[in-house]
Amino acid sequence: MRNNSNKIYIKDSASIVQRYINMGGGEFIVGKSFHSIYNNRFYIGCQKVHIGDACLFSRYICFYASDGHFIYDLETNNCINLSNNEDIIKIGDRVWICDSVMVLKNSEILNDSIVGAKSLINKKFCESNVIIAGNPGKIVKRGIYWKP
Ligand SMILES: CC(C)(COP(=O)(O)OP(=O)(O)OC[C@H]1O[C@@H](n2cnc3c(N)ncnc32)[C@H](O)[C@@H]1OP(=O)(O)O)[C@@H](O)C(=O)NCCC(=O)NCCS
Repeated sequence: MRNNSNKIYIKDSASIVQRYINMGGGEFIVGKSFHSIYNNRFYIGCQKVHIGDACLFSRYICFYASDGHFIYDLETNNCINLSNNEDIIKIGDRVWICDSVMVLKNSEILNDSIVGAKSLINKKFCESNVIIAGNPGKIVKRGIYWKP
């Protein structure tokens, strides 16, 4: 925790084992009945990570809410990967994130979806009830739901 304005809200009955959370003024909101098995890392900085209700996170998952270092255009010297504290990773309700998934800045997964093992999520997915898998992640199945 590198700032005194970090906000962590855990609604109720979360099980979060051996996690690493790195924050510098950001916001981490976890919905009801969150289950995070172990060795999951959340690099939030001054950005936001919102996780809905009844999500299941497996092991070795990593969230990067910003890149952590700046990239510049060689000709203009403008920063090309600026992030601000409105940037957010959003995970809906009842999302199962499988083993060793990486989720990058400004990504979104909607309700009742699954992210397959070792996938990379780097954008917003606008459909619920899907399986997303691969690097970069793509929808591989539609019209599904899962049970714990
Ligand atoms: C996501 C998952 C649950 C989906 O299982 P499923 O519905 O049986 O999926 P399928 O095996 O039918 O795969 C559907 C397609 O997605 C692809 N796919 C599935 N999982 C994938 C993955 N993790 N990475 C890349 N592609 C994947 C398959 O190759 C297949 O592609 P094709 O149609 O071109 O052949 C499963 O693949 C998975 O990742 N399991 C890991 C479970 C885990 O981590 N458990 C920890 C306990 S919490």
